[in-house]
Amino acid sequence: MLKKLSLAILSLALVPALSMATDAGTLQKGEKLYKSSCIACHSTGAANAPKLGNKQAWEPLIARGMDQMMDVATKGKGAMPARGGTKADDESLRAAVEYMVSRVQ
Ligand code: HEC
Repeated sequence: MLKKLSLAILSLALVPALSMATDAGTLQKGEKLYKSSCIACHSTGAANAPKLGNKQAWEPLIARGMDQMMDVATKGKGAMPARGGTKADDESLRAAVEYMVSRVQ
């Protein structure tokens, strides 16, 4: 019983750690989408877009979490077009966000 319980606690503790880990394939895919679309605004910080590699711009967004960033990325906000103006599916879009996040960590 005790063993089962501690196993359950252990696996609960591992889930967030695993979901935060981004594998190289995802980052590569994200970089591709970033370079084909997101780069137009996110490399220069045009219209207040959080600039690639700018810790100050990304830290508060990262602190709010991936779900919130994905919400803005899918629906758009201000000058940020929905899906960055692409037809990217959720998986590719998330990969591009993860790529940008990886560049400030
Ligand atoms: C036309 C310019 C433009 C393009 C292209 C663009 N973005 Fe953005 N993006 C913005 C702007 C501007 C903001 C800031 C929005 C705000 O907070 O008002 C932003 C914000 C974001 C954020 C932060 C969301 C948050 O939590 O506030 C993410 C994530 C993001 N963009 C992802 C992407 C991805 C991924 C792509 C490519 C698929 C992309 N963007 C393409 C302009 C752009």
